[in-house]
Amino acid sequence: MHPPDIHQHRILILDFGSQYTQLIARRVREIGVYCEVWSAARGKQREKIKAFHPRGIILAGSPDSVDRKTQTTLPSDTLSPEFFTLPYPVLGICYGMQIMAVNLGGKVAQHALKEFGKTQLNILQQNPLTQNLPTEQTVWMSHGDQVTQLPEGFIRIAGSANCPVAAMANVAKQLYGLQFHPEVTHTEHGKTILRNFVVAICGCQTLWQSPYIAEDLIKHIKAQVGHGKVLLALSGGVDSTVTAQLLYQAIGKQLVAVFVDNGLLRKNEAVQVSQMFATELGDQFIHVDARKTFLQKLHGVTDPEKKRRIIGHTFIEVFAAQAKKLENIQWLAQGTIYSDVIESAASETGKAQVIKSHHNVGGLPENLPFQIIEPLRTLFKDEVRQLGLELGLNPAMIYRHPFPGPGLAVRILGEVKPEYLAILCQADAIFIEELHKAHYYDKVSQAFAVFLPVKAVGVVGDARAYDYVISLRAVETTDFMTAQWSHLPYELLETVSGRIINEVAGISRVTYDISSKPPATIEWE
Ligand code: XMP
Repeated sequence: MHPPDIHQHRILILDFGSQYTQLIARRVREIGVYCEVWSAARGKQREKIKAFHPRGIILAGSPDSVDRKTQTTLPSDTLSPEFFTLPYPVLGICYGMQIMAVNLGGKVAQHALKEFGKTQLNILQQNPLTQNLPTEQTVWMSHGDQVTQLPEGFIRIAGSANCPVAAMANVAKQLYGLQFHPEVTHTEHGKTILRNFVVAICGCQTLWQSPYIAEDLIKHIKAQVGHGKVLLALSGGVDSTVTAQLLYQAIGKQLVAVFVDNGLLRKNEAVQVSQMFATELGDQFIHVDARKTFLQKLHGVTDPEKKRRIIGHTFIEVFAAQAKKLENIQWLAQGTIYSDVIESAASETGKAQVIKSHHNVGGLPENLPFQIIEPLRTLFKDEVRQLGLELGLNPAMIYRHPFPGPGLAVRILGEVKPEYLAILCQADAIFIEELHKAHYYDKVSQAFAVFLPVKAVGVVGDARAYDYVISLRAVETTDFMTAQWSHLPYELLETVSGRIINEVAGISRVTYDISSKPPATIEWE
């Protein structure tokens, strides 16, 4: 039996800059429906929207106000009344509802009482959006403005104490608005509401399921690549590993994977990656030992951003040199995932500030004669993991904590020296081992050790020690944009500290980092 066309039933989400937009997209995918996030500016182009053939459109929230000063002035990147004549159901969320209201003749104003956080909601009317919901429920609000006058043809379908129009609808025209956020987990029945919109109102079938996704991606890779050869830069991280597995299952012998050991990896990592792929890929797997090159280039460099740039450029040089040696390669594969694509769209608006520059293989010289293939480009991280499991990868590999491209170089403050790397690798491995033993590895989102090149006094045996400091870092986060330091048990920290001081020569003191993000970042550099 042929797999169904999993992209056929699709939802378009327009982004006005809210932190919650990606969450809406993930919820829609979890329901089993393909969706894409477009910037609001692109959403103004009716022909592009029609060509996309969405079954429905969701207007997301925004940090902007529809109505900051007057009730008629709209921010320049917002929609026009014509948008709402498109022949698709529309669900406006928060700012998305307000923009729907003002465009269709309603009014929005600031309310004296803002609503932030959990709020009691009363459903006032049963309709396709509110079906299967209890009359009273908790929802998540985050707004200062609200709809104060309904557009013509709309009715109020839910209210809260401080927001009489907490939801509105024009059922005949299939236009719906929610002041609260159904995409956040604090909204008790948020997923039912989104399912009501996507499945009951828009009529989408839930075709977006991981077995179908794997089949679909394999089919598309085969069609795209034909008999060509594909080169993959394999880092051993989740994204590139799943890309490798997918490509291997799709095109087998036509894949060549290059793994560059930059010497900045965790303990045994290079060996593990090589073992995993060398067995399966044989001579289609190339291990490049570039440790010396990277360390030489980093010699004497202390500035974190300069270190990042050097590592990025050196990677490109080493990889490009390998690529040139290989013959008959037509394609270069990258493990780009959907959040990279959306993030770069966000940075195009100029609103996002660069706190740290991240690198991938995007900066390769133009004279490499390859076309780019990015099989995971439409998938979110959790979908990539699901796909990896579907393809038979080891769950321990799939659920490994993320590791930054510049590796341990951003976990050694200042200059990267071989002796610091050796110490950090050992300390980090002990921390991770103890986290596993105590069943805490999967409870935290990311954990690692950081090397501080300062010396502190200690006593080892009867002798005075004057050695370096290790800081342990463990955080909990869903999106890595904000993070809470993990409240690890004291006993666990004690075991780790004891082992590091006893087992790692050169360390006299271990500290635990209790800073959250913001204001701290997750990595120390
Ligand atoms: P920060 O330190 O910015 O980290 O709070 C957020 C997440 O990004 C990872 N990170 C990087 N990943 N190249 C990467 O590929 C980088 O230069 C880089 N810097 C930070 C970090 O490990 C965390 O998961």
